[in-house]
Amino acid sequence: MSFKEKIDISKLPKHIAIIMDGNGRWAKQRGEHRVVGHQHGVTSVREAVEAAAEIGVQYLTLYAFSTENWNRPKEEVMALMQLLVSTINNEVKTLNENDIRLQAIGDLASLPPDCLAELKEAMKATASNKRMNLVLALSYSSRWEIINAVKQIAMDIEKAKLSAVDITEKVFESQLCTAGFPEPELMIRTSGEHRISNFLLWQLSYAELYFTDKLWPDFRKEDLFEAIVDYQSRERRFGKTSEQLV
Ligand code: FPP
Repeated sequence: MSFKEKIDISKLPKHIAIIMDGNGRWAKQRGEHRVVGHQHGVTSVREAVEAAAEIGVQYLTLYAFSTENWNRPKEEVMALMQLLVSTINNEVKTLNENDIRLQAIGDLASLPPDCLAELKEAMKATASNKRMNLVLALSYSSRWEIINAVKQIAMDIEKAKLSAVDITEKVFESQLCTAGFPEPELMIRTSGEHRISNFLLWQLSYAELYFTDKLWPDFRKEDLFEAIVDYQSRERRFGKTSEQLV
């Protein structure tokens, strides 16, 4: 029985977030440049998107480029940006055919102008699609996002639009890049690293974390389905006892 067949469709996570890790190691194992790993990673992106859409996941968020990734060697950063531009450009048609909306979170203004322009164009072209939301985290870091939200709230207080006593989780969430998205119930990280690395720190508060040793370029549909089957075997207590859940 395949992992796909084992999935209980009535208990699907609405939102899955993935830290796509291990492209560099995958390339190194083959004596190739790191960029070759990123290029092969695009196939895995396609597999993950197709798999999530096939079974009815509503949101898939992929950590494609962190704020910290700007510190990588210049050639790698440029190659990654180029890869993003070409991938987005190549995939818009398929996204539209499959009714998938492209969105992005992060400090988008820091992206190179051609990359930002391509991204905006693709987001506009797919804006009315309804089947699934594909969210790319680009130049994203959770601490940056949280500081941004705090600044916004502080400005609203300065302008007397808000009182400090009225700050609630809901108010705070409304200032995050993910405002309006359901919280991710499942976070997957590839490559055997067991870290969150500044990814969706607020939003992952109650997410189930799933780690696989597979390197991202080797990740295929069945790997996503396996993660979902594992997620469905977990008891999500949200601070309650098992008995209270019955
Ligand atoms: C982490 O592997 C991966 C990245 C920093 C980039 C991910 C980008 C892609 C898969 C390409 C295109 C994506 C989209 C959404 C179009 P790493 O380089 O940190 O690997 P390592 O830990 O083995 O060095």
